[in-house]
Amino acid sequence: MKVIVLDTAAQIGEEVGKIFVDQVNAKPDSVLGLATGMSPVPTYDYMAKEYAAGNVSFKNVTTFNLDEYCDLPKSDKNSFYSFMVDNLFSRTDVDLNKVNFIDGNAEEKAECERYEKAIENAGGIDLQLLGIGTNGHIGFNEPADEFTQHTYKVKLTDSTIASNQKFFGDVPMPRYAMTMGIGSIMKAKKIVLIATGESKAKAAYAMIKGEVSPSCPASVLQNHEDAVIFLDKEAAKLL
Ligand code: GLP
Repeated sequence: MKVIVLDTAAQIGEEVGKIFVDQVNAKPDSVLGLATGMSPVPTYDYMAKEYAAGNVSFKNVTTFNLDEYCDLPKSDKNSFYSFMVDNLFSRTDVDLNKVNFIDGNAEEKAECERYEKAIENAGGIDLQLLGIGTNGHIGFNEPADEFTQHTYKVKLTDSTIASNQKFFGDVPMPRYAMTMGIGSIMKAKKIVLIATGESKAKAAYAMIKGEVSPSCPASVLQNHEDAVIFLDKEAAKLL
């Protein structure tokens, strides 16, 4: 696990954005694992800027997102699909026919098997982007007694709901989501995780210095052969 500390989220966005752009320029049909939340936004901004400047094309990439809410239409402005359209897909030449999302409203077993199979048929994920929850979750893999393996349906914790309710205003947000499991995520050839802000300092410390434990799901990245963690100074303050 390589840890890189930079001054600002914008600098991290540029460095991580470069990793993605270089990956796609080296392998135009790359399979990219994408994340939502605020942490990846500067990276998507950089990717969109490079596309607009004619320095990269995403038209042949295949994408897989980590997670999606249940009981929420895909077209809802708060779905993770809408987030990705707004922040990346509408700003680049990503082919929406090559975009893959878990259908949070489908029957769990069949849908989770379909998604895992789709990733396998695509040849696996070349480069996976992650954020981290304040409780150390990745995707929607919440602290648990064991590391999850495959894509599954999860009941969101109170802390995760508290962190995300702000995006839903007065409408109660979904209580369930479907997420790639830890095992699914760890199969990616390369993983880049972004943690910024003081609220992530405890999770970042546990991820990097703590024991590898499902009580901090992100700690599993200590066992990945090519995981790079980008922190700003606030998120790195306990290290
Ligand atoms: C949600 C998402 C995660 C994301 C996390 C942190 O729980 N399911 O994929 O990493 O929030 O989001 P942020 O980057 O906004 O702090």
